[in-house]
Amino acid sequence: MSHFKSLTLEWSEERLILIDQRKLPIEEKYVECRNHEDVYLAIREMIVRGAPAIGATAAFGYLLGARELANASDEVFFDHMTTVKRRLSDSRPTAVNLFWALERMENVLFSNRSLNRKELIDSLEGAALSIAKEDIEINKALGRNGATVVRDGDGILTHCNAGALATVDYGTALGVMRAAAEQGKRIKIYADETRPYLQGARLTAWELIKSGIDVTLICDNMAGWVMKKGFIDLVLVGADRIAANGDSANKIGTYSIAILAQRHGIPFYIVAPLSTVDLTTVSGEEIPIEERSHSEITHLGNQQIAPEGVKCFNPAFDVTPSSLITGIITEKGIARPPYDVSLREMFEKNPEEVI
Ligand code: MRU
Repeated sequence: MSHFKSLTLEWSEERLILIDQRKLPIEEKYVECRNHEDVYLAIREMIVRGAPAIGATAAFGYLLGARELANASDEVFFDHMTTVKRRLSDSRPTAVNLFWALERMENVLFSNRSLNRKELIDSLEGAALSIAKEDIEINKALGRNGATVVRDGDGILTHCNAGALATVDYGTALGVMRAAAEQGKRIKIYADETRPYLQGARLTAWELIKSGIDVTLICDNMAGWVMKKGFIDLVLVGADRIAANGDSANKIGTYSIAILAQRHGIPFYIVAPLSTVDLTTVSGEEIPIEERSHSEITHLGNQQIAPEGVKCFNPAFDVTPSSLITGIITEKGIARPPYDVSLREMFEKNPEEVI
């Protein structure tokens, strides 16, 4: 029985243990998932969130699903696996890493269907562990690639949480910051609080303080002013799905920051693994955008702050058009416009050809 542990998730003795991101930074609590339904709920309820973290978690959910009917007949078992995949796919719609990871797990299932059931489940466990371990290596590679655009003394604005918590470990946008800091560059991070779910205030600020990286928390509506004051040299954000033409879906508010960055002549970079690039989605128009509960806007925690019955609109993500994006930092290098060419080229590169 294999054991794996990172900040975000732990696979141990046939269960998945997740740090409960809803409770951070006030409490460090953990939630145990023992079957695929627990994993579905953990993703849907945002116990775990962030595109690569959702993908890796879903892979373990698929594995748990296989263990549930380990002794069933082939017909019952393979039908069940189709149901498991469908259920996990329904947890959240925007981050493509979820679908990418489930597709990868299903391919392992079908390519090993001639094995006995124990060997088949072992191969699924190997695949889920590979997804988790690879994610950390990928983040370190994109961190190194991204650090080339960070200069000593830079002020960097980020939005939402694209850190260790949003991945298996290390982070994407925060991975670039970590790599730059590890190289001795003195950087100063400005973290948007990220209304309404406050991933910036709760998670990014917590992670950066823990890592000893200088962080200043601002409200979302201060981003333009800190740019105008000259505090920001660079914007680094993550992504949930990048279309073939480079249009990038990320946390609601990212689009406004990209416009502000263009107005102030500040480079705006997306930082994401290639598993976030969806070449089957032609442009941002086709990216499904999750809408979340109105209570996230009308309430702060349990405290109501808006009049009873007010109409609300709560999209969880927006799409930044590729024309506003300076570069897309991936594990295989930095894609530059035109993205319909450069993103495809990234997939064809060998890791050693990087940069
Ligand atoms: O709703 P969330 O918290 O899952 O949204 C997360 C984001 O938008 C992140 O920026 C994105 O997933 C990239 S994480 C490396």
